[in-house]
Amino acid sequence: MNQLQSKLNIPSFSDVYSDYFSIGAAINQRTIKSSKQLLIRHFNSITAENEMKPENLQPDENKFSFEIADQFVAFAEEHHMKMRGHTLVWHNQTPDWMFKTQDGSVASRELLLNRMKTHISTVVGRYKGRIHSWDVVNEVIDDSEDLFLRKSNYLEIVGEDFIEKAFRFAHEADSKALLFYNDYNECHPQKCDKIYKLVKSLLEKQVPIHGIGMQGHWNLTSPTLDNIRAAIEKYASLGLQIQLTELDISVFDSTDGRTDLKEPTTEMIALQEERYEQLFSMIREYRDVISSVTFWGVADDYTWLDNFPVKGRKNWPLLFDVNQLPKKSFQKITSFR
Ligand code: GLA
Repeated sequence: MNQLQSKLNIPSFSDVYSDYFSIGAAINQRTIKSSKQLLIRHFNSITAENEMKPENLQPDENKFSFEIADQFVAFAEEHHMKMRGHTLVWHNQTPDWMFKTQDGSVASRELLLNRMKTHISTVVGRYKGRIHSWDVVNEVIDDSEDLFLRKSNYLEIVGEDFIEKAFRFAHEADSKALLFYNDYNECHPQKCDKIYKLVKSLLEKQVPIHGIGMQGHWNLTSPTLDNIRAAIEKYASLGLQIQLTELDISVFDSTDGRTDLKEPTTEMIALQEERYEQLFSMIREYRDVISSVTFWGVADDYTWLDNFPVKGRKNWPLLFDVNQLPKKSFQKITSFR
């Protein structure tokens, strides 16, 4: 079989998973064009990799810039895909003006809350009914053992209740949108406990939150399948839905700093296939709680993991290769029926 035939003969990923969960990809201005055919054929959900972050949507106060985000939403609608919104409140990729007054001093709690409300109601309101799930708050749990919430401008200026306020503002703007708390290292037992604790406390306060986003930036060995399962079980015990929001499986573990590989080694390829197969076999068991699985990219020709966290290093974390052809991992996770 030549390459083109093998590309055409494979089943549609999202069709294979239609009884399980939506299959999504993060896109950007380049990949919406360069991976258009893959997106249309294999995915039924998209997320903007960067284009709906606060610094992109509101670079200056009250100067919103929706052009690219609008194009993505239109693309999703044209191709009958769902759209995930990412992200409203985050310590990163948020413009400095949010946290300052015009003369450069620190904004008051009231000013920051007003700005947060304006941002959320403008953005969520604009796409009301067109974005089915929003990552409302991203990454507020600290990675260390002794700290619960991460230090951030939001926490310092507003206090802990910035989190619940964000969810309430989002719910006011679109009462039907599903609202998510999203984080990484979400399967690390201690961090998982903290995420659970945070979300539980929100539920106890009747905060409108509907799900937990497990980012899923994983590698060939970490987190273990047992830790992933334990995290899913723990989050699901809150009665919320779960989405894998940013899945990719780096071929490098955290201690591997090699920069000389021109392609993944045979061992990496084999381990990645096995990992994807085991992971999908496990998450299929949880189709009642997992509603969507989004990859943080489409094909290995573009991934945010190129040059990150190690400069000058290519990575191959996705299911389609650098030529946009399906990898064996793809075949393994789509041939279970
Ligand atoms: C985090 C964010 C994403 C993205 C990735 C890196 O996971 O939630 O928006 O910035 O980091 O691409």
